[in-house]
Amino acid sequence: MLSAVERKIEQFIAELDDKEVEALYAKLPQGKRLRAKLILKIAGEKLSAVKTAAIVEMIHAASLLHDDVIDDADTRRSKPSLNALYGNKTAIMLGDILYSKGFFELNNISPDVAKVISNAVTQLSLGELKDVSLSKMFNTDTSVYLDMIYQKTASLIEASAGAAALLAGKPKEPFMIYGRNLGLAFQMIDDLLDITADSATLGKPALHDFAEGKTTLPYIYLYDALGESDREKLKNMHAKVLSEEEQQWIMAQMQMHQIPMKCYAQARELIEEAVELMNRLGEDALSEIATEMIDREF
Ligand code: FPP
Ligand code: MG
Repeated sequence: MLSAVERKIEQFIAELDDKEVEALYAKLPQGKRLRAKLILKIAGEKLSAVKTAAIVEMIHAASLLHDDVIDDADTRRSKPSLNALYGNKTAIMLGDILYSKGFFELNNISPDVAKVISNAVTQLSLGELKDVSLSKMFNTDTSVYLDMIYQKTASLIEASAGAAALLAGKPKEPFMIYGRNLGLAFQMIDDLLDITADSATLGKPALHDFAEGKTTLPYIYLYDALGESDREKLKNMHAKVLSEEEQQWIMAQMQMHQIPMKCYAQARELIEEAVELMNRLGEDALSEIATEMIDREF
């Protein structure tokens, strides 16, 4: 099902007629292609859907190339990141090339689809900027976190579902709500896995987010659950490289206050809401992809 999308991305890249770009693209791990799967599940495998799925995956790949530069990440999906292999300049430019080619191709789909997708790209850029700004402080406000992950991650998944609905001649709104819930749950699980998964499974160091200054949902909930002196202790560990002992203290507190369970339950609730909405529309096939978003190990 996804091979048509892979072939379309390869075709778009071949059209650039640049061997270096082809070789660099080949170095990128493909990832789960969740956005593409979502589009094909909603709109079927007609050419406009395959093209839209390829465009969205190219934009997503571009955003991760830029994100790894911003996060100074050495790895992406267990492989060396492109910035680690070839430096920031190359990673940024490959991102710009994928992104601009994607936008060029978007002009050949309908104006409605182009509007939904391009608006989401502005949102994801605004969200990433918020993520960067929030990393400079210890944020304890859940709604600030939720707004940021909505923009950074859920907006493009929401737009993928909305665009696919437009292509299929289905009502856009319920699919966008479905996509939004999936996106929020996806990022919540991503942030939870930084605490619960071991670094080998994750393909990046565990507890990396907190060291980077990110107070993700588990840290906000933990802060809420702690007494005053432990709150201070946690705050003092923020945005630092932690010793083994400090890491173990955080993990023990997380377990003691059942934080992973609370975060998982919140993501699960969003998924259940999304699945119910789709079931009501008779779109039963969309439940599987929703569950896949949260029942994952990396
Ligand atoms: C991953 O977050 C990052 C995103 C989902 C979005 C990043 C968006 C940008 C850099 C804007 C790019 C804009 C254009 C136009 C291409 P994360 O760091 O929490 O997740 P990770 O664990 O996968 O790194
Ligand atoms: Mg990152």
